[in-house]
Amino acid sequence: MFAPHLATALLLIASSAFGSRAGVQHLLRQQADTNSTNSFDVASCPGYSLDSLTSTKNGLTAKLNLAGAACNAFGTDVANLTIQVTYESQSRLHVNIFDTANSQFTIPESIVARPTASGSSNAHNSDLVFNYDATPFAFWITRRSAPNATPLFDTRVSSLPPTPIAPVIVGDNSTALDGFPLVFENQYLQLASSLPLGANVYGLGEVVASSGIRRDVGTDGGVGTIQNDWARDIADPIDQNIYGVHPIYMEHRFNSTTNTSQSHGVFLFNAAGADILLLTPPSSNVSLIEYRLLGGTLDFYFISGPTPQTVMEQYAEIVGTPTWQPYWGFGFHLCRWGYPNITAVKEVVAKMRAANIPLETMWNDIDLYHAVRDFTSDPVSFPPAEMKAFIAELHQNNQHYIPIVDAAIAKQVNSTDIYDPYSKGTDLDVFIKNPDGTEYIGQVWPGYTVFPDWFAPNALAWWTEGLKNWTAAGINFSGIWLDMNEASSFCDGSCGTGIDISNTSTPFLLPGVPGNLLTNYPEGYNLTISGPSGNITVNGTLTFDAPAPATLSARGIGAGNQTDVELNAPPYTIHNANGRLSIHALATNATHTGGYAELDTHNLWGLMEAEATHKALKTLLPGQRPFIISRSAFASAGKWAGHWLGDNFSQWKYMYLSIQGILQHQMFQIPFVGADTCGFNDNSDEELCNRWMQLAAFTPFYRNHNIKGAISQEPFVWDSVANASRTAIAVRYALLPYWYSLFANASLSGTPPVRALFWEFPNEPELFAVDRQFMVGSDILVTPVLTPNVSSVDGIFPGRGKTVWRDWYTHDVLDAVVGANTTLAAPLGHINVHVRDGAALLLHETPAYTVEETRQGAFALLVTQSADGHAFGKTYLDDGISDPPGPSTTVTVQASKSSVKISGVGKFHVAQKLTQVTILGVTKKPATVTVGGKTVKSTYASAQQQLVLTGLSVDLNANAGTTIAWK
Ligand SMILES: *[C@@H]1O[C@H](CO)[C@@H](O)[C@H](O)[C@H]1NC(C)=O
Ligand SMILES: *[C@@H]1O[C@H](CO)[C@@H](O)[C@H](O)[C@H]1NC(C)=O
Ligand SMILES: *[C@@H]1O[C@H](CO)[C@@H](O)[C@H](O)[C@H]1NC(C)=O
Ligand SMILES: *[C@@H]1O[C@H](CO)[C@@H](O)[C@H](O)[C@H]1NC(C)=O
Repeated sequence: MFAPHLATALLLIASSAFGSRAGVQHLLRQQADTNSTNSFDVASCPGYSLDSLTSTKNGLTAKLNLAGAACNAFGTDVANLTIQVTYESQSRLHVNIFDTANSQFTIPESIVARPTASGSSNAHNSDLVFNYDATPFAFWITRRSAPNATPLFDTRVSSLPPTPIAPVIVGDNSTALDGFPLVFENQYLQLASSLPLGANVYGLGEVVASSGIRRDVGTDGGVGTIQNDWARDIADPIDQNIYGVHPIYMEHRFNSTTNTSQSHGVFLFNAAGADILLLTPPSSNVSLIEYRLLGGTLDFYFISGPTPQTVMEQYAEIVGTPTWQPYWGFGFHLCRWGYPNITAVKEVVAKMRAANIPLETMWNDIDLYHAVRDFTSDPVSFPPAEMKAFIAELHQNNQHYIPIVDAAIAKQVNSTDIYDPYSKGTDLDVFIKNPDGTEYIGQVWPGYTVFPDWFAPNALAWWTEGLKNWTAAGINFSGIWLDMNEASSFCDGSCGTGIDISNTSTPFLLPGVPGNLLTNYPEGYNLTISGPSGNITVNGTLTFDAPAPATLSARGIGAGNQTDVELNAPPYTIHNANGRLSIHALATNATHTGGYAELDTHNLWGLMEAEATHKALKTLLPGQRPFIISRSAFASAGKWAGHWLGDNFSQWKYMYLSIQGILQHQMFQIPFVGADTCGFNDNSDEELCNRWMQLAAFTPFYRNHNIKGAISQEPFVWDSVANASRTAIAVRYALLPYWYSLFANASLSGTPPVRALFWEFPNEPELFAVDRQFMVGSDILVTPVLTPNVSSVDGIFPGRGKTVWRDWYTHDVLDAVVGANTTLAAPLGHINVHVRDGAALLLHETPAYTVEETRQGAFALLVTQSADGHAFGKTYLDDGISDPPGPSTTVTVQASKSSVKISGVGKFHVAQKLTQVTILGVTKKPATVTVGGKTVKSTYASAQQQLVLTGLSVDLNANAGTTIAWK
C-alpha cells in the first residue's frame, strides 16, 4: 500500500481519514516539500521597549516599540505595538499585545463573544499581578498572595540557551530557532514563558498525547511537546494535530513542604496556525512554553484558579459555558458507516429491542445520502417516505434519529443536475471563493464540492432552509452530526478551475470494496488457536427570505487584505503533520466574505458551522435544546455542540486513549464528548467491545460507531457484549439524574462533569498523571479494564486512606491500599465503579428501555455517610428539553449522624415519588426508623452498614422537606 511518490501518498492520507497507518503518515512527512525557508537565528531579533504607559480604569495601556533593527525573521517586524492590561475580574487578567495599526487578523466578536471587565476590578483587588521590565520589554504574572513565589507566567527568557527542535519536514530547518525573544511580525509571532522545571501542564489540544493527560515538558535540552494548531481530518494519530484547536492550558503546582497545591490557567485567544512547544532548555533550571504563531495577535488571558475546577470555571467565563443537553442525549446511541439500506437499519433497531439492549438514538452515516449529497436520502436504499415512517415509529417509541451532515456541498455536475442546496447557495452567495472572486472548488465524498462561507450574510438562512427541507422530505431528525468540518477536502488546496466535474468518484477506494477490504484480524486475534475467522434526487425546493446582511467587525481582517502576506506558504513552517497547510484541506488563500482569508480563519470553520447549526435547530425545533455533535472545534464551541473523538481504532490502546480525550474536552468546555465505542477503524472483537461498551457507559456521549467494511460490532452481535451492555446501561440510566445535574452545573458554571482524580484530590501528587481511571462528578470513581485477557484491574483510590470507597454493586467498603494501586476483581462483563463517602445520589429506581420510560419511573436515593455521618447531594430536575431551560427544582439531601433530610426547592413539578432509600455507613441496626415522623419498616445489613427503606412515597416537591431519622 505504500506509495513511492507524493501524488499517491496524498491519496493515502486522504483515505486515512478513515483508515490510516502510522507508516503512511511518516512517509508523507518525509515527502511533503514546502521549499520553505532556512533556519533563522531569531536570537538577533531586537525585542520591544515599553513607552507611554498610562493607567486605565481597570489596568494600564502602553506602547511597545521595536527596540532595534528589524530582524524580519519570517515576515516583517511590526514596529509599533500596543499593550493593554486589564484586570477583568478578581480571578482574570487580560494582557493583549496587538499591532497598533490593527491590521493583523483578530477573531471577530460575532464569532466568539468575550466578557468585558467588571467595573470594580483593578490592580489592587485582583488575585493576579502584572509586572514588567520596560527594556527589553518582558512581563511576568504573579499571585498577589505570593509576590515572591515563582511567577505563573514569565517572559524574561530571552537569555535561555537555544533548544534544537526537530523539523516536521526533513531538510526544512525553519523551525529550529535559536533563542526566545518576543517577536511580532505580520506572519510570525513568538512568545515564550518559563515554567517550573518539569511543570504539571494539562490541556492544549486537540491531541491524542503519548504522554497521557499530563503533557510532556521534556528534560534537559529536550522538546516534550509540539502541539500543532491546524485543524486536520486525520484518523487520531498520536502526538499530531487533529480535528480541533484549543490554545488553553492549566498548570498545577504542588508544594511538597506545605502539601498544598494551586492551579492556574493561560488562554491565548488566537486562531492562527501555530506550534505550541513545551520544552526544557539544556542545562537549565526551568522548562518553557513557547507560542509560535502564523498571525493574529498575542491576546492572553490569565486565570487564577486556584483549584483545577475553578480554572475550568474561569475559562468558561471567557468562552462561555456549554450548551444544555436534552435529557435523552444521555441515552445510548448506535451508528455505523455501511448500513446498505433502511431495511438493515430497521433490522438493527429490532435486534436491539429483541436483545433488550436500550437504544435511545439510531444514527446514519453518509450511506443515507443520494449521490453522497447533504440534505438528501437515497431514493432506492433510503426512500424518503419509508424513512419518514421509520423515524415516526422511533419517535412513537420515545427514540430518536440523527443523520450526518457533511461540511462540503456538492457542485452540480451539469445543467440538468439540479441540486437546490448548491444552486440556491450560489444565488445567495454563500460559498467560499477564490481570491479572484470565482467559486472555490474542492473535492469530498460527492465529488467536486463547494464550501459554505459562514461569514456570508445569507449563510445561516440558507443552511436553516436546507435542514428544514430535509425534515420536510422525511428526515425528521432530533439532532445533527457534523463531520468533515476541519474543513476537509481531498485535493491539495483548490482542485482548480476547468476540471471535469462529472467525475464524482473519490480519489481513493472506500473501505470494504475490492482492493480495500478490511481483512485484518481484530487486534489480538489468535489465528493459531482460533483458525481463520468466519466473522470476519435531491429533495425539496429551497425558499428564502434572505435577511438583511449581518455586519461584521471591520477590525482585524488580517491577511485577507494585507498585501505583504504570503497566503499560500507562510515563511515559518508549523508542524502540521500533513506538511503544507492546504493538504487535505482548503487552500489558505480561499476567501471568505469580508475579505477574510482561509489562512486566518481555517481553525474557526467547525466552530462557525456548529453555531450556525445550533441556531438553525433552534428555529426548526423551537423550544428544544439543539443536540449537535461536531468533529472540528475551536475555543467556545461547547456553547453550540458536543464532540466525538473522531476516527479512532478498534484497539485496546485507543480505548485507554479515549479517557484523556474526554478529560481534555472537560477543560476545553466541551464536556459532552465520547469516543466511537468498540472502535471505528479496523475490526473490533468481542472482548474489546465488551470492555468498551462498559467503559463508555460512564462517559458523557455514549455511541457505538463502526467503519464501512468492518465486521459488525453492535452490542447484540456477541452474547457477552449484550450482557455487559445491559449491565452498564442499567447503571448509567439509574445515574441519569446525577449525570444531568452535573451537566446543569456545567451549563450554569462551567464545572466539569467528568474529572481526573487530581481535580478532586489536588494535593495527592501520585494522582497527577492518572488517566486510566476517572471520576464522574465528585462521587463516582470508574476503574475500567483497559487490557485484554485479564480478570483483574489495578486502580488507585484517592484520599490517602481518609476517604471511604464503596463498591457500587455490593456496597462493600473497599479495603484500598493508601496512595498506591489496589487490585480489583474484574471478570469480563464487570466494570468497577466505586462511590465516595459523603455522597447522596438521587437515582432512577428502575432503568427502562428508553430514557423517557426511565424518567417516568420512581426515584431511589443512595446515601453514603462519611465517618461522622455526613453526606450531601444536590440534584437538578427539570423537563429535560426546554430551551431556554424552564422551571427547575433542586432536591437537596443532607445527612447527619442519624438522620437524612430531603428537600426540594423550585418551580418544576416533580411527578415521580421517591420510593426507596439506601443509607450506607449506619453503624448499628436502628431500633426504630421514621420518615416524616411516622415509623416505617426497614432492613439492615451489618456487613455493609446498610439501612434500606422501601415502599416509601416521598414527595420531592415539598418545600418543608422530609426527614428520615433512626435511633
Ligand atoms: C521546491 O523546489 C523544487 C526545486 O526548485 C521544485 O521542483 C518544487 O516544485 C518546489 N516545490 C514547491 C512546493 O514549491
Ligand atoms: C538544516 O540543518 C542541517 C543540520 O544542521 C544542515 O545539514 C542543513 O544544511 C540545513 N538545511 C538548510 C536548508 O539550512
Ligand atoms: C514606532 O516604532 C519605531 C521604532 O521603534 C519608533 O521609532 C517610532 O517612534 C514608533 N512610532 C510611534 C508612533 O510610536
Ligand atoms: C513552598 O512553601 C514554603 C512554605 O510556605 C515556601 O517557603 C516555599 O518557597 C514554597 N515552595 C515553592 C516551590 O513555592
